[in-house]
Amino acid sequence: MTTDRAPTSTLSITYDDNTPRLFLIATVVWGIVSMAVGALIASQLNYWRLNFDMEWLSFGRLRPLHTNAAIFAFVGNMMFAGIYYSTQRLCRVRTASDLLSKIHFWGWQAIIVAAAVSLPLGYTRGKEYAELIWPINLLVVFIWVVFAINFFWTLKKRNEPSLYVALWFYIATIITVAMLYIVNHLQIPTGLLHAYPVFGGVQDALVQWWYGHNAVAFFLTTPILGIMYYFLPKAVDRPVYSYRLSIVHFWSLVFIYIWAGPHHLLNTDLPKWLQMVGMWFSLMLWAPSWGGMLNGLLTLRGAWDKLRTVTWTSRAGADYAVEASADFNVWIELDDGVIGEPEETSFTESGIPAEARERYYRVRQL
Ligand code: HEM
Repeated sequence: MTTDRAPTSTLSITYDDNTPRLFLIATVVWGIVSMAVGALIASQLNYWRLNFDMEWLSFGRLRPLHTNAAIFAFVGNMMFAGIYYSTQRLCRVRTASDLLSKIHFWGWQAIIVAAAVSLPLGYTRGKEYAELIWPINLLVVFIWVVFAINFFWTLKKRNEPSLYVALWFYIATIITVAMLYIVNHLQIPTGLLHAYPVFGGVQDALVQWWYGHNAVAFFLTTPILGIMYYFLPKAVDRPVYSYRLSIVHFWSLVFIYIWAGPHHLLNTDLPKWLQMVGMWFSLMLWAPSWGGMLNGLLTLRGAWDKLRTVTWTSRAGADYAVEASADFNVWIELDDGVIGEPEETSFTESGIPAEARERYYRVRQL
């Protein structure tokens, strides 16, 4: 097979490290904001007077602010930092467009600010993790498309013929989040601040939790696994424990995860067979979840001494395993919503940026 790509040995590439740096700074800033709001609403659960009798400080308005900030601002910015940083190195090419990177970064921050203003004011679609009103939804779609163009254009220009598994995880993230977000946000506006969803009743609930569950899957899990597959082998200077396992658990994860949403609707009006589909696929998810976790931890086997901060990632890996086992069944789902999910997200996702930051600022070339 012939290739018209430049021979890599003669390439001199100046990576764009400014974009990942900006995203990392934003991660820290929004992390502080989201967790401060989390601490406030946690306190309100015990001392309701901490809402100071102001509606925009009430639990109902600040809870979505906390979850949106934690997921889309804290983890989102971290994910973009990791993707921009590693994709360039995995493709041996600079990100395709500096302009698109800038639009992506500033557009995403504008979305977060719009959320931080509109949610306390009480403007909401009333759907968990999909609260933002329709004008902001349009901005999200636009910025996501900018991100997708920049990413796939970079892949097109790459100087490395093979696509390492981390890139597969990023591709799954970009495509699936777009699909989920657009379908669950289909709505008919009645004014600037209000719209009706196109789905109704139990269909609406099903689409919402197909989205909600897979927001966890494809926003909080797949990109983080991709980032893990880049950073861990680099950090310990050895190949991933099993490349075959990484591919097998990638395909099984993305195939199985997408069917698990109905487990959020157990004992509701959703047809029983669909509830069962959600349950069974949730149980089957143990296998790919553990596949990724074991692959990560086994990559570190015998090389723990090479990492000063590996405790973060190993803690995250172990936590992910517990969470993966606990999250997918009816018995634990409810409790887990309050305890496990924030637990998992804080440790799993903050483990990676903690290490990334460490390496990025001190070692620089990972
Ligand atoms: C200082 C740290 C944190 C505190 C004090 C905190 C507090 C809270 C509280 C009080 C709730 C609402 C529970 C309820 O409705 O009964 C909550 C929900 C949630 N938090 Fe946090 N949180 C923290 C960190 C995080 C982080 C780092 C993330 C994600 C990266 C996160 C993601 C979530 C999610 C997804 C929910 C909704 C869970 C569900 O309803 O199933 N939190 N958090």
